[in-house]
Amino acid sequence: MLKKKILKALTNQINEEMYSGYLYLSMESYFHSISLAGFASWMRVQAQEELHHGMRLYDFVNERGGRVFLDTINRPDAKWENPLAVFEQVMAHEEKVTALINELMDLAGSEQDHATKIFLQWFVSEQVEEEASVGDVLNKLRLIQNDSSGLFMLDAELAKRVFIPPAKE
Ligand code: FEO
Repeated sequence: MLKKKILKALTNQINEEMYSGYLYLSMESYFHSISLAGFASWMRVQAQEELHHGMRLYDFVNERGGRVFLDTINRPDAKWENPLAVFEQVMAHEEKVTALINELMDLAGSEQDHATKIFLQWFVSEQVEEEASVGDVLNKLRLIQNDSSGLFMLDAELAKRVFIPPAKE
């Protein structure tokens, strides 16, 4: 059985992950609007991953006998100046999510909830990967600056990303 504090924090994290999915879907649509289909496709995969993270937490709470009371999902931003501004926001958002996961880990530790700690380990590793892949795109966008041929090359590279649902351990 989950302790009240842990249940509240996990439920909040479900909302954060669903919001992340919303945010990245909004970004996908922005990229479509400026004809960068590869960036749009990358964002779709990113959104799918986030919704998957939310469902992973949701399933865990149910599995542990907790009741999930879903909350309102905030409205995501919809306008950006350019692709660089989008990825700067993605990085800031992922860093925020990493901090939330770390706080959850700390809470699970202080509440001596070992099962939740083990469960959250996957999210800790996932955040390392996420920050690395977003950082890679961000660095490339900074190098490209206003070079449109570089942007189109990056667009073609990002189009290759596919969503692979991670196996449940
Ligand atoms: Fe699920 Fe990108 O944090």
